[in-house]
Amino acid sequence: FAASLAALDTAVPPSHRVPRTVEPTAAGAPFRNAVDTDPAVAEHRAWAAGILQRAEHSEEGVRTLAEHTVTEQAVLDEVLTSTQAAGRAWGARPAAERAEILRRAGDAMEAARGRLIEVMASEAAKTLDQADPEVSEAIDFAHYYAARATELDDVEGARFVPAALTLVTPPWNFPVAIPAGGVLAALAAGSGVVLKPAGPASRCGAVLAEVLWDAGVPKDVLALVQVDEDALGRQLVADLRIDRVVLTGAWETARLFRDFRQDLPVLAETSGKNAMIVTPSADLDLAVKDLVASAFGHAGQKCSAASLVILVGPVARSKRFLGQLVDAVGSLEVGAPWVPTTRMGPLIEPASGKLLEGLTTLGTGERWLLEPKRLDAEGALWTPGIRTGVRRGSAYHLTEYFGPVLGIMAADDLDEAIAVQNEVSYGLTAGLQSLEPSEIARWIDGVEAGNLYVNRGTTGAIVGRQPFGGWKRSSVGAGTKAGGPNYLVGLGGWVRDGAAA
Ligand code: ALA
Repeated sequence: FAASLAALDTAVPPSHRVPRTVEPTAAGAPFRNAVDTDPAVAEHRAWAAGILQRAEHSEEGVRTLAEHTVTEQAVLDEVLTSTQAAGRAWGARPAAERAEILRRAGDAMEAARGRLIEVMASEAAKTLDQADPEVSEAIDFAHYYAARATELDDVEGARFVPAALTLVTPPWNFPVAIPAGGVLAALAAGSGVVLKPAGPASRCGAVLAEVLWDAGVPKDVLALVQVDEDALGRQLVADLRIDRVVLTGAWETARLFRDFRQDLPVLAETSGKNAMIVTPSADLDLAVKDLVASAFGHAGQKCSAASLVILVGPVARSKRFLGQLVDAVGSLEVGAPWVPTTRMGPLIEPASGKLLEGLTTLGTGERWLLEPKRLDAEGALWTPGIRTGVRRGSAYHLTEYFGPVLGIMAADDLDEAIAVQNEVSYGLTAGLQSLEPSEIARWIDGVEAGNLYVNRGTTGAIVGRQPFGGWKRSSVGAGTKAGGPNYLVGLGGWVRDGAAA
């Protein structure tokens, strides 16, 4: 195995090799989260600068994507038939064998960290501070689900029967970690996989698939297909050979899937309108830091982003807090993702519709503390915005905008703040900044969201430590959490010993 890893490492061009040793992960080794690149280490910084330099003119993934773009129904049909058959054979292999390949896949993504960052910066406008932890998360999914897979074989009195064919349809905003999560979970469970990357980030999906294939994931078990959603997308979902869908996207999209094929189990993580509460007991410096990262990381284009902050009592009038927040947000550098100092890149596409409204239109009683400014002709590059005076029940309070704008609300006490936080139809992430244990306990009891974060930002769930998934309109279907102990179970079913499958 060490030899195969060495071969993998030489498959990665020297310019992309990470400045750290990639040790093969052994079977049975305790799960450990991958470690991000550390910009404080000169060698890491120099390596990352080289990767980013290449991103501007990167061709990563172009060829693979072209090879896997499907425009004819007959070709799609063939892919589904062969992946289903290969999936059945894959599911019949002992889980330990699948786990071994997944561990290798994790190590291979570590070796290919540079390539993955390059394509994310190039195609999906991800800055280094966003793309690098995303690779770590993808690696974590591989190692974590590898460990969970073998547990499926250990259940007494029942046998786990995986889905034969799982369709994975990830979003463009986490174009490596989310497809990796879906693909690796399905592979770990024993299912064949059709990966349909999001259109605006399809090269990222292609590079990910290449890395996984090179690591030993059989090419017939993991199919990459890029289809035009209008032309072949519906046929893909309608195909009865697909027996699971792992989807991350808007709540409305997930519902369309469900309504379109009611027999199809969907594991969907959907929209969010997430708020962070700041109480008078909070460490306000920490609150500012966490809010900036939560609201403006990847220009706010995350389902987990904090789009609201609810200030309790005197915090709403704290000149120090508001001044620091405005200064911190106003000093974020906006620009090209391949410039190492950029903290906010462009939106994936020019702002339009709801998002454009969120960036330009104030509701009754609202005013800008920082007005977003458009920096380019197309309307994709914006400076970050902060609006204050957001009222309960207003459009801004209840709508997901998915962009670089934060709204400030005020509440008299924590109970009112929790009510405001819960009033939205979604329930994905929620934050509390408080150093008062009784407040923390009250909040945890009362808040309706899948991921609760105390004195921490609302984004960047960590595999194994913070399984990720929502309540209310932030989830459709099985509702199990990605990166958590129960996720694989959603990708198959149980048959009692002695019963026929
Ligand atoms: N899992 C991603 C996060 O936690 C969406 O930010």
